[in-house]
Amino acid sequence: MTDQPQDHWDKVYSEKAPSEVSWFQNEPRSSVAVLNRFAVPVSSSFIDIGGGASNLVDALLARGWADVTVVDIAAPALAASQTRLGEAAAGVQWEVADITRWQPSRRYGVWHDRAVFHFLTEPEQQSAYRAALLSGTAPDALVIIATFAPDGPEKCSGLPVKRHDTESLAAALGSEFTLLDDWREEHLTPWGSVQNFIWCVFRRNPG
Ligand SMILES: C[S@@+](CC[C@H](N)C(=O)[O-])C[C@H]1O[C@@H](n2cnc3c(N)ncnc32)[C@H](O)[C@@H]1O
Repeated sequence: MTDQPQDHWDKVYSEKAPSEVSWFQNEPRSSVAVLNRFAVPVSSSFIDIGGGASNLVDALLARGWADVTVVDIAAPALAASQTRLGEAAAGVQWEVADITRWQPSRRYGVWHDRAVFHFLTEPEQQSAYRAALLSGTAPDALVIIATFAPDGPEKCSGLPVKRHDTESLAAALGSEFTLLDDWREEHLTPWGSVQNFIWCVFRRNPG
């Protein structure tokens, strides 16, 4: 394994097809279900943090979302999505950035993070994420975060993770966010292993 997270992730996405990684899902069902459940208008701005090569962006475009940004530390991940999308990729904002160093230039109505926050094992990394979250979300923004649950895997992609329950996630985000819903999910990897996730949906408090 390499020393720097960026080197690690660049290597992963250069060596494996999107469907060969443990976090692959054919359809981003939970993410889309949250948007439906909270009746989020497709005119909202959406940011996928650590979106990787996920096909969530495809699902959003297919549903008419027009203001979609995908941020990831690994350029090859975003390149894979761009290739898959073809011309439609031009309608998406792509940013290669480390979320713990990134300063958003605008605020988003929906902040989505599936399987990224749990890689932030140090309190300083979590504080940096929170700073980005505070700069990057508008009042009333919906914040959707999925991490490994307390009985989920101890590692992902060979890296250590910090597993969360709803309480630890809510504490990490801070008092500016109100929990709307949480649930557990059993994610099935492409090779049939079960990974326990916790999903939490927060609303950024108004004002
Ligand atoms: C387990 S994958 C999940 C990818 C995607 N969210 C999904 O659901 O398919 C974790 C992703 O987070 C990205 N990542 C890891 N650390 C990051 C960081 N500090 N800043 C931005 N992206 C990061 C990786 O490159 C990878 O694409």
